[in-house]
Amino acid sequence: MLAAKLLDAFSQDYKDLLESELRTLVAQLNAPLIIKEAMQYSLEAGGKRIRPLLTFATLDAFGIDPKKGLLAASAIEMIHTYSLIHDDLPSMDDDDLRRGKPTNHKVFGEAIAVLTGDALLTFSFEVIGRIPDEVASTSTKINLIVEMAKAAGTEGMVGGQVADMEGEGKALTLEELEYIHIHKTGKLLKFSVIAGAMLAGAKQTELDNLSGFAHHLGLAFQIRDDILDLEGNQEIIGKPVGSDTTNHKSTYPQLLSIEGAKKALESQLDLSMQYLNKTGLNSRLLSEIAQLIVSRDH
Ligand code: IPE
Ligand code: IPE
Ligand code: MG
Ligand code: MG
Ligand code: MG
Repeated sequence: MLAAKLLDAFSQDYKDLLESELRTLVAQLNAPLIIKEAMQYSLEAGGKRIRPLLTFATLDAFGIDPKKGLLAASAIEMIHTYSLIHDDLPSMDDDDLRRGKPTNHKVFGEAIAVLTGDALLTFSFEVIGRIPDEVASTSTKINLIVEMAKAAGTEGMVGGQVADMEGEGKALTLEELEYIHIHKTGKLLKFSVIAGAMLAGAKQTELDNLSGFAHHLGLAFQIRDDILDLEGNQEIIGKPVGSDTTNHKSTYPQLLSIEGAKKALESQLDLSMQYLNKTGLNSRLLSEIAQLIVSRDH
């Protein structure tokens, strides 16, 4: 009970901080009003801010002020939001509702929605470059940029999204589906933890164990997402239920049944907690976020 309250207070404080930073960053851009409005629209539509919270909680686990992760967390949330805008496009999942509001292309049209994604993606790298020298050295910033590019790019999220689209209407093996989940969702989620660890100056063993934690957590996150596509309530999840079925996607419940998917979810959570326990860090918040990810209703 006390523990849940700790995460609640932490989440609210850092969500407010992140949301105000995102607003300021976009407001300061010198660009046509429409693109700034479209960026702001999707960024402030809501969202759980799980990835930024992972960055903040990782810094906290090292005993470092989570605020040091503010620009990195903002960059990650921009990449995540871009991925959602493109994921919802008619040529991809063709969804009309996101974060409880009409999708970006429904409000601004497809051309602006594509450009909004481009704008958020490119801006995210500039934002990493803006991290003050007292927070991260130039070499740490370069490493952050390289790791973020890998997580979001062809060997990461983009690769996963391509495999997801190519897999529509096909019977995929569990191994193929695991590739999709690890890449389309897991890689950026993992980077959210690793970014915090890099800013904290983590040792190699700590990085390895946190990578193991976040790898399994990323997989668990997408399995829960697949389950919510079937069992969720549209009002609560803020996006259409049944999108995967309509698009003939392979998902964990479709391959393993709902019960099998729930078992896989639990076993991924167990694996992630084993790695987390090996870090030797003060990982209470991270562990609470992990519990939240597997039990969430949105
Ligand atoms: C949805 O991510 C897309 C996936 C990668 C599964 P989230 O469930 O984190 O979406 P928001 O940010 O809360 O809207
Ligand atoms: C999308 O997976 C992962 C991304 C990179 C955006 P989904 O297509 O399952 O995400 P939702 O269910 O639309 O949020
Ligand atoms: Mg998709
Ligand atoms: Mg989708
Ligand atoms: Mg989904």
